Amino acid sequence: MSGHVTFVHLTDLHVGNPAVVDDHLYSDTSTTLERILADIKLLQPAPSFIVASGDLTNRGDIDSYEQLKRLIAASGLDIPFLFALGNHDRRDGFYPAMLGRTENVWAPYDHAQVIDGIHVIVLDSSVPNKIGGAFEPGQLDWLKAELEQHADLPKLLVMHHAPALDANPAMEWESLSIDDTEALRQAVAGKNVIGILSGHIHFDRVSNWYGIPVVVGIGQHAATDVLWLHEGLRMLEGASFAIGTLRSSGLSITFAPQPASRRELHSFSFAGMAEMLAKYEASTPVAAE
Ligand SMILES: [Fe+2]
Repeated sequence: MSGHVTFVHLTDLHVGNPAVVDDHLYSDTSTTLERILADIKLLQPAPSFIVASGDLTNRGDIDSYEQLKRLIAASGLDIPFLFALGNHDRRDGFYPAMLGRTENVWAPYDHAQVIDGIHVIVLDSSVPNKIGGAFEPGQLDWLKAELEQHADLPKLLVMHHAPALDANPAMEWESLSIDDTEALRQAVAGKNVIGILSGHIHFDRVSNWYGIPVVVGIGQHAATDVLWLHEGLRMLEGASFAIGTLRSSGLSITFAPQPASRRELHSFSFAGMAEMLAKYEASTPVAAE
């Protein structure tokens, strides 16, 4: 690979229909997404694509997806969006609203494309009416066939539910099922998968899963209090999105905490930094030989 490829990872957008009161929507997700898309528009270099790893809407109804479409169109971003579905999504809402598809609306939404030398593979880990994730018959066969395509290209997987890190059935609600995690491990072994982008648990977490980085983001709705996980789920204000950079040396992920309007404590321009470094180096005593 020559040069860098950058992309953006959004997750758990939980966009709602603004005309409907939703007691299970804890923050103004439309405004959050609007601000984040405005920030993404200013990124340099411009990202090659944006992935949204599920829970695109809070309720999965067509009107909420229409709101999501409106926000994306209003941003003026001319960048490919790749969508995955999460447990808050509904396939029968997503397909007609986002893809104009009215037939076969309960099929899992698996898709892939090559963008700037990255083979992005999006898997639908959502299970209608379930919180945890799993695959339906045929999805892993589709994945295995897709992994055989573009053998020379790095592969980036996107799925709402991250693989299960422990084989603990009591915690299966927060991940892909234990059985499908094992099947996934076998499917991706040796296939140049550079990372898996996920969401669902609403906190930033990076895991090394059998050598593959699994990146989970807080998302854009509410942040799980990671210091309270021994008690239960406590949701805090806050969000993040991530900027991925693929270099020949590998993948890096930079989290951009939100809100971006946090109070500035100090700032340097790059010119100011050069001046500061020059002063610092001039004042540093040189060790005696
Ligand atoms: Fe979510």
